[in-house]
Amino acid sequence: MNNFSYYSPTYFDFGNDAESHTGQLVKRFGGNKVLIHYGGGSVVRSGLLDRVKDSLKEEGIAYVELGGVRPNPRSGLVYEGIELVRSKNVDFILAVGGGSVIDSAKAIAAGATYDGDFWDFFSGMHPEVALPIGTVLTIAAAGSEGSPDSVVTHEDGMLKRAMSSDVLRPKFSVLNPALTQTLPAYQTACGVTDIMAHLYERYLTNTEDVEVTDRMIEGLLLTMVHEGPRVIADPHDYGARANIMWAGTQAHNNSCGVGRSQDWSSHTIEHELSALYDCAHGAGLAVTMPAVFRYVMKHDVKRFAQVAVRVWGCQMDFAHPERTAKAGIDALQHFLVSIGMPSTLEELGGKEEDISKLVEVLFHGVEQGGTIGGFTPLDTKDCAAIYRMML
Ligand code: NZQ
Ligand code: ZN
Repeated sequence: MNNFSYYSPTYFDFGNDAESHTGQLVKRFGGNKVLIHYGGGSVVRSGLLDRVKDSLKEEGIAYVELGGVRPNPRSGLVYEGIELVRSKNVDFILAVGGGSVIDSAKAIAAGATYDGDFWDFFSGMHPEVALPIGTVLTIAAAGSEGSPDSVVTHEDGMLKRAMSSDVLRPKFSVLNPALTQTLPAYQTACGVTDIMAHLYERYLTNTEDVEVTDRMIEGLLLTMVHEGPRVIADPHDYGARANIMWAGTQAHNNSCGVGRSQDWSSHTIEHELSALYDCAHGAGLAVTMPAVFRYVMKHDVKRFAQVAVRVWGCQMDFAHPERTAKAGIDALQHFLVSIGMPSTLEELGGKEEDISKLVEVLFHGVEQGGTIGGFTPLDTKDCAAIYRMML
């Protein structure tokens, strides 16, 4: 296991009706004037936005609002949010929604305290200060409610890029599993897939002696395999929603990623799909992961065989471990399809002629001859081959 430092200070308020504590939590973490940031309207329709506002009013906390965040959040609304925060002297950003809303909120929080263009932070610079952020989560998926990351797409070139800094970890996150009961089955399945991807990307490591985090990841993956179908069968199953929600946070707050190298090639390769086709991130991952895993499997057959046995219940073939490894990847793909996820690029709207464009944008900003991926390096030819495997 590698040396590590780990700082994950988010306060979680989990359970039924937890959103009624939002005002108290904002106060506790020093907010006086709040920007309530939300998406395309689900929180208006469900009545959640009104409940959150009532909770702020009860504590005498002033607020302004900015809705309209779309999935795969865009830079335009971030610039608008930064202006609003400055002109209204906002000192706390409250994201009410999913990963897209939270990520947009994080970009506003970092950009509002910075004299330059917030996009600098998505081009390699690290934010060292940001306004405090709180979240009221409505979908278990991205894990942004506990993560130091934000992913935003710049309209100029449709570059989908990430920034990361501990100052972006939310001060608090309200997790009420019941709020996710209004999700369409497809979005629920996208969330399950994303959570599993966050676990796999950490599982694919080159670090020795990481039994504790291996076992944590396997436990969370098993939870998803068990609870995912339950919630697809019954969207009102609070217990299954609760397990998925907490697994989603644990999958991406890096508690199970510390002390080990990680991969992230599936995410990097997928981000170009959601940028180009505007597909849901989870759906893009369902197509990307099996292709990447089949391509990189030879780098460490033992690791893929291990997850196949421990999570997917495959029989170990000691004479041909690559068969076990492959059976595990097949089982993953079969599972994803069974919960309603796509398995081909075509289903996302992609075509073979898009591949050169996908690779070009993927390597935009990567130095000449550079590679992506933390498990095994992938160059432009490798990534083109992976995109081709998704057809
Ligand atoms: O916009 P509204 O109307 O709220 O509808 C949303 C949206 O259409 C809807 N929704 C959310 N909660 C709902 C609901 N509909 C009914 N009932 C509810 N309770 O679901 C749709 C998707 O929402 P979105 O926020 O986009 O989902 P998700 O949480 O999956 O976020 C995806 C984004 O997160 C990024 C992805 O790249 C993508 O842009 N990621 C962020 C990460 C991070 N910050 O740590 C890590 C992830 O790997 C990921 O890359
Ligand atoms: Zn993800």
